[in-house]
Amino acid sequence: MPHRPSGSGSTGTSGSGSGSGSGSGHVSRSSGSSASDSSPGGTPPVGEVWLVGGGPGDPDLLTVRARRLLDEADVVVHDRLGPVSVLTELPESVQLVDVGKRPHHHPVPQEEIDQLLVDHAKRGRKVVRLKGGDPFVLGRGGEEMAACLEAGVPCHVVPGISSAMAAPAAAGIPVTHRGLATGVLTVSGHDELDLPALAATPHTVVVLMGMGRLHEITAGLVRHGRDPQTPAAVIQQAWTPWQREVRSPLSDLAGAVAREGLTNPAVIVVGAVAGLPAAGQVTGVQVTGAADQGAGASAAAGAATGRLSA
Ligand SMILES: C[S@@+](CC[C@H](N)C(=O)[O-])C[C@H]1O[C@@H](n2cnc3c(N)ncnc32)[C@H](O)[C@@H]1O
Repeated sequence: MPHRPSGSGSTGTSGSGSGSGSGSGHVSRSSGSSASDSSPGGTPPVGEVWLVGGGPGDPDLLTVRARRLLDEADVVVHDRLGPVSVLTELPESVQLVDVGKRPHHHPVPQEEIDQLLVDHAKRGRKVVRLKGGDPFVLGRGGEEMAACLEAGVPCHVVPGISSAMAAPAAAGIPVTHRGLATGVLTVSGHDELDLPALAATPHTVVVLMGMGRLHEITAGLVRHGRDPQTPAAVIQQAWTPWQREVRSPLSDLAGAVAREGLTNPAVIVVGAVAGLPAAGQVTGVQVTGAADQGAGASAAAGAATGRLSA
C-alpha cells in the first residue's frame, strides 16, 4: 500500500538535487554531478517517490499539496500532458526529467520510467512523478507504485483532477445529471473496447486516448445499437489556451471533428448529457488567466521546451 502522506508532505529525505538523470537522455536540467551522490559515510538513505496528479493542464488546477511538493522536490519526472508551464516556476535546484509520451511515440519506455524513479530515490532524493490528470486513471500510476514498492522505495500518491471529468466540465457537460445519467464509464480508446456493453449502457461514456479510432468507435457504437442521434462531443486540450470542442450527434461526430480539425489530446463524450442546453454556453468555466496565457503560456511552454532540450 502507498504510504499515507504526512502533514507536511515531506518525510525526511536527504537528497540535495544533485546528479544527472539515470536511464534517460531526457534530463532537462541538472544542478550537479552524479559523483556527489554518495554521502562520505556510504550509501545515502533511500528517498521517496510521490506520484502526483497534475490535473488537465491549467496550473491553477493543481492541488495545493501537488504544488507544494513540486517546490520541495529534488527531481521532477514529468509527462507532456498536464500543467507543464508550472515547471518554469520551480526552484533552480529542482532537476527536471522529461519522459513525455506522444501517441505512437514513447520516447522513454515505461520500464525505464519505473527504473528512473527507483534509481533517483535510491540516491536519497525526493522524487515527484508529475503525471497529467490523476495518476491512477489510465496513467500507469499503479505500475510505477508497484515498481517503487518492489524496490523498497516508499511511494506516496497525490490524486489529481482527471481529464475524464475535467474535459467534459470545461465544455459545460456534467458527466452525470439527474434524469439523464446516473453514472459514467471511463474507458481507454487504446485498448479493446466492449462495444456492445458501451452501446447498451445508460451511463455517460467518456473515452480517453480514442481520437485515433474515433470513427471506428462511434460507428461501432451505432452498429451495436446506440441511437445515431445520441448527443456526443469531443473536447481537445481542455483547460489550456488551446481548448476546443465539437458537439454532434454520435453518427456524425467523427466527420464533425475532421471538419473542425480537432486533434489529440482530447476526450470523447457520448450520452444525453452532451446535449444539455447549457453545454457550451457556460460562462463560469474558463481557463484561469487564459487572456494572458495566449502569449504567456506559449512563452512558458517555449521556455520549458528550451530547458527540456538543453
Ligand atoms: C495516458 S492518458 C492519461 C490520463 C490522465 N491520467 C487523466 O487522468 O486525465 C492521456 C489521455 O488523457 C486525455 N487528456 C489528458 N489531458 C487532457 C486535456 N487537457 N484535454 C483533453 N483530454 C486530455 C486524452 O484522451 C489523452 O489521450
